[in-house]
Amino acid sequence: MRHDHLISAAQLSRDDIEAVLDRAAEIADDPATVRERHAGTVLALCFFEPSTRTKMSFDTAMKRLGGETIDMGSVESSSVKKGESLADTVRVIEGYADALVLRHPSEGSAKMASEFVDVPLVNAGDGAGQHPSQTLLDLYTIRENAGLDDITVGIMGDLKYGRTVHSLSMALTNFDVRQHFVSPESLRLPRSVRYDLHEAGAQVREHEELEGILPELDVLYVTRIQRERFPDEREYREVAGEYQIDAGTLAEAKESLTVMHPLPRVDEIDPAVDETPHAQYFEQAHNGVPVRMALLDALLGGGRDGGEDR
Ligand code: NCD
Repeated sequence: MRHDHLISAAQLSRDDIEAVLDRAAEIADDPATVRERHAGTVLALCFFEPSTRTKMSFDTAMKRLGGETIDMGSVESSSVKKGESLADTVRVIEGYADALVLRHPSEGSAKMASEFVDVPLVNAGDGAGQHPSQTLLDLYTIRENAGLDDITVGIMGDLKYGRTVHSLSMALTNFDVRQHFVSPESLRLPRSVRYDLHEAGAQVREHEELEGILPELDVLYVTRIQRERFPDEREYREVAGEYQIDAGTLAEAKESLTVMHPLPRVDEIDPAVDETPHAQYFEQAHNGVPVRMALLDALLGGGRDGGEDR
């Protein structure tokens, strides 16, 4: 990958994506080959918003490459509490680390922060903006289960505020994938995302009900309603719980349908679905480790046994 930073899925070409996924598959097959590859490398984890999977899988990924991590800790316990700007925070942290992973509630924050640092910066979520490393593990999971060509994918839930949706839908335009978007009217894709998808040659097919298109789907990507992004709690309550799937819903689906979710789920997928062969969301979360190992390896370049330059 020739990028210094990973801010948006729009940066990723098909070649970039395939290179990371292929490398992730190699690493998953034989993790021992990269055990010491990035010995001495330090990755800084800068999370201004809650995270379990993203933070812990980046942490694990760096350690499994032989490196170490440092963690800014919670906003409450950091100098952000004293009023430090994001630009100053990342400028300081880049002096302690070889790469940064940043999650922040403001859209555009990762792009802005990346302009202040010389080490690679990965956007691990900027408000309702983008979450490109999640997209790579989503694509890996889709490729493993359904392949990435000539498939139909349904993306359902909070398409307005869901950054995983914005990144994934953009990345899917690199492949021969038909995309269907299912949401309440109030949570449709933002106009800017629809525009970008259109510009990338995708046909944006939007629906308010899953029923009509479910039988066509090879993959159903379910998302959480992003409660924390609603300006008004009442608006959240109006749509909460509207798009739930259970084993009954899936009776109409292809036998081979893969159900995914970036997690955490609240009540979008009934736990009974976990027991069906459709459920791939826990595997999807686990794929975060080899995929982030491959991503870090690509961004850091070099490593013990050479490799490409950044
Ligand atoms: C997602 C996120 O933070 O955008 N979580 C994750 O990284 N797996 C999805 C969500 O919070 O709903």
